[in-house]
Amino acid sequence: MRAGVFDSGVGGLSVVSSLLKQRLFKEIIYYGDTARVPYGVRDKNTIIRYSLEALEFFKNFDIDVLICACNSVSAYAISELQQKAPFPVFGVIEPGVMALKKRVEDNSKSVLILGTKATVKSGKYQMLLNQYGYKNISALAPSLFIPIVEEGLLEGKILNEVMKHYFKDIKKDPDAIILGCTHFPLIQKPLQKQFPNSILIHSGEAIVEHLQSYLKIKSSNKETNLKLFASENPDNLKKIASFWLR
Ligand code: DGL
Repeated sequence: MRAGVFDSGVGGLSVVSSLLKQRLFKEIIYYGDTARVPYGVRDKNTIIRYSLEALEFFKNFDIDVLICACNSVSAYAISELQQKAPFPVFGVIEPGVMALKKRVEDNSKSVLILGTKATVKSGKYQMLLNQYGYKNISALAPSLFIPIVEEGLLEGKILNEVMKHYFKDIKKDPDAIILGCTHFPLIQKPLQKQFPNSILIHSGEAIVEHLQSYLKIKSSNKETNLKLFASENPDNLKKIASFWLR
């Protein structure tokens, strides 16, 4: 099977990393809209428009499925993409919530959603969690983590200071934290150190589980062929991929 992976920029490589580890696909076509990143500060209509334009790019390829690695796209544009695409389209929000449900069965437990401003504002994670009976939900948009990750500052003083800033009002570790932004799995270790008693939910791992059960696909022993495309500076995307996908 061939998959397309769409993201607003380079962050979706965190999802690609999980897909490559499991070798679910023969080929992955990755497209990052690096010319217009970030999506997480934009409004619903802009995110939908950009996503539908990206869909046109994927129509040039013979893909069996499209995965939206971007949480902000998953929050706002999934139904539009599903209506217009000639192949099935999966976002990361439902898989993330399903993964949480599996790991934290007791729905009285506290859940913290970390996402972009757009994702948090959409209320999509909150709504789905509510449907499954989780009521003890809070959400934060620690937007500065995104440029910090892109700068490769995946640990150290700067990241620690920024974490202090965003998390200063959290008195007790949440029972679960949804890493609801493509960039946050890359700082999973320091986040886990900050919240040692929380279960962290990683979108990439969640979508792998979801695809395995929905598409009934299994890991292969052959490596996935990865093709990388970007709307601007594809060389930078390839450079980042060579670090992140090591
Ligand atoms: N990929 C985005 C997301 O997961 C983060 C970067 C952006 O704001 O575009 O929501």
